[in-house]
Amino acid sequence: MRVALERPTVRVVGEERTVLEVRDAHFAYVRSRPVVRGVTIHASPGEVTMILGTSGSGKTTLLKLCKGLLVPQRGDVRVLGDEVAAPRRGRLDPRVAYIPQQLGLVRSLSAMENALVGALARVGTLPSLLRLMPEPEVRRARELLGRLGIGHKAEEPVHALSGGERQRVAIARALMQDPRVLLADEFISDLDPLTGAEIMSLVRDAAGEGVAVVMTTHEMDVVREHADHVVVLREGETSLDAHGVPDARAITEALRR
Ligand SMILES: Nc1ncnc2c1ncn2[C@@H]1O[C@H](COP(=O)(O)OP(=O)(O)OP(=O)(O)O)[C@@H](O)[C@H]1O
Ligand SMILES: [Mg+2]
Repeated sequence: MRVALERPTVRVVGEERTVLEVRDAHFAYVRSRPVVRGVTIHASPGEVTMILGTSGSGKTTLLKLCKGLLVPQRGDVRVLGDEVAAPRRGRLDPRVAYIPQQLGLVRSLSAMENALVGALARVGTLPSLLRLMPEPEVRRARELLGRLGIGHKAEEPVHALSGGERQRVAIARALMQDPRVLLADEFISDLDPLTGAEIMSLVRDAAGEGVAVVMTTHEMDVVREHADHVVVLREGETSLDAHGVPDARAITEALRR
């Protein structure tokens, strides 16, 4: 079902309208049981797209297809026209930042070192980080951590940080990539409402700078407040694709098995 709702989609003047294009994507881990079935999604710069769906509906699988960690068996996923599943020079497209549900931070490294991981594609060097990183990158990571409210924890190892602080480090690492697309899987589900709201405002800031944000969530309040575009998956198929103010009834209906 495709419906147009009230809030107009954010339009970024002079930018491409679609940064991320998922076209008729199909994926099955086991041949007999497809979990993403003909999904088509367009995500635009400046827009927060929220993917909803009951557990097992294929949200995480879809995000992995968007990052190129999984390759669709039919259809394709493109970022600015390039197929993401065709790694260039053997690596995944750095224009797509992916924050997995478990955040994927290196717990023994500091907040700063984790943020600098986001610069690796640009710098082209393997860890050992801090000492090998060009000074401008280190300065930028420091600024970013400051802007995200954890400058004072920059040297702390990630294992000593709270959930909300780790989330901020994950955003810092993602933004250090200069992404055009930011994918985040159940990003704020473990946070208290206040911290969740703060983190969402940081995500909105990233969108405000022209990033296409695509995130999964189960939190209807977050959807109501922050979504520009809502996609609901039901058993791997799109049951709703709506721009603007999400209509709670339409969403509930689309979620229903
Ligand atoms: N590595 C895997 N191998 C086989 N099947 C898998 C694998 N990962 C996921 N699946 C199956 O694919 C389906 C979709 O999983 P997925 O993780 O994409 O769902 P989800 O919508 O993210 O669920 P949740 O809300 O619980 O995170 C599920 O039935 C799951 O069991
Ligand atoms: Mg999931």
